[in-house]
Amino acid sequence: MAEAKKIIAWLNKNSSTQIVTDEALIGGAAIDEHNNPLPEETLKKAKAADAVLLACIGGPKWDKVAFDIRPEAGLLGIRKEMGLFANLRPAIVFDELAEASTLKKEVVAGLDILILRELTGGLYFGKPAGIDTLPDGTRRGYNTLEYTTPEIERIARLGFELAMKRGKKLCSVDKANVLQSMIMWREEVVKVAKDFPEVELSHLYVDNAAMQLVRNPKQFDVMITENMFGDILSDCASMLTGSLGMLPSASLGAEVDGKRMALYEPVHGSAPDIAGKGIANPLAMILSLSMMLKYSLDMGVEADKLENAVKKVLSQGYRTADIMQDGMKKVSTSEMGEAILKALEEV
Ligand code: IPM
Ligand code: MG
Repeated sequence: MAEAKKIIAWLNKNSSTQIVTDEALIGGAAIDEHNNPLPEETLKKAKAADAVLLACIGGPKWDKVAFDIRPEAGLLGIRKEMGLFANLRPAIVFDELAEASTLKKEVVAGLDILILRELTGGLYFGKPAGIDTLPDGTRRGYNTLEYTTPEIERIARLGFELAMKRGKKLCSVDKANVLQSMIMWREEVVKVAKDFPEVELSHLYVDNAAMQLVRNPKQFDVMITENMFGDILSDCASMLTGSLGMLPSASLGAEVDGKRMALYEPVHGSAPDIAGKGIANPLAMILSLSMMLKYSLDMGVEADKLENAVKKVLSQGYRTADIMQDGMKKVSTSEMGEAILKALEEV
């Protein structure tokens, strides 16, 4: 976030639009301060803003806090309360990083796919959910995977709309061979497809989709899927791009009176293993900022400029540890941020 803030300051100096920022606590920091991972004030500020840029929420320090006030509850809470049902997770392979992936270069070079994860329903939110102790003393843990027609309809519709603006291919990922909720998911997606005759619709079971993502990811354009399936598939897709440290995301709500609630965050988490060392890759956050400029702030020109700066810096050979390759220049988090600022002056 520190690097993103430097870029916002640069944009405020160099573009005609001024981004007015405010800050609020969520997750572990909010637990420390308010014993609540999502304080009322945070939610109020988030809802009032044109867009929210979110860092990460957790760490080993909060591993022992009560389940309902754990850091993750803050993240799930803000997504739910802001109605952010659509999570866009693009996986784009920059030419410069085609060799940084653990997959063969020819499998990933030129990749540009979009995973659209349903974010406020499915297994994460279904009720009942809990851990009980049965009369005989055995414990029972359970969650519910449920969807209603409007929930499927709106994510499917957005998937088709996004596909229309891209390669006109939509793959719906489900588990209709096992789960009733996913049989219905597929049926509802097929209904929405009637409004988008130009989009080529396909269906995959999630296990097959995971396999196809590493076998031949370029067969995909837009993928829509259930909340937890999307969580898993997007982490998988991140490695196609070289590193989890490269993947931005946008979480969007419905448009109400011309305004769409929106939150932007890297796909990665707080990476406790490297926290505080100054070596994290800030590019997922910087690219999340770029998505924010494009989708929420009507600053497409600046968004393109920022993306070009990222490409330039990569082509100049700057690499944080997670994407380091032989012969490249290894830089820290803040050095990467500085390199982006410098590139912004030049692109
Ligand atoms: C993500 C994360 C979150 C999720 C966690 C931190 C709750 O993994 O955004 O992908 O599971 O949604
Ligand atoms: Mg995840």
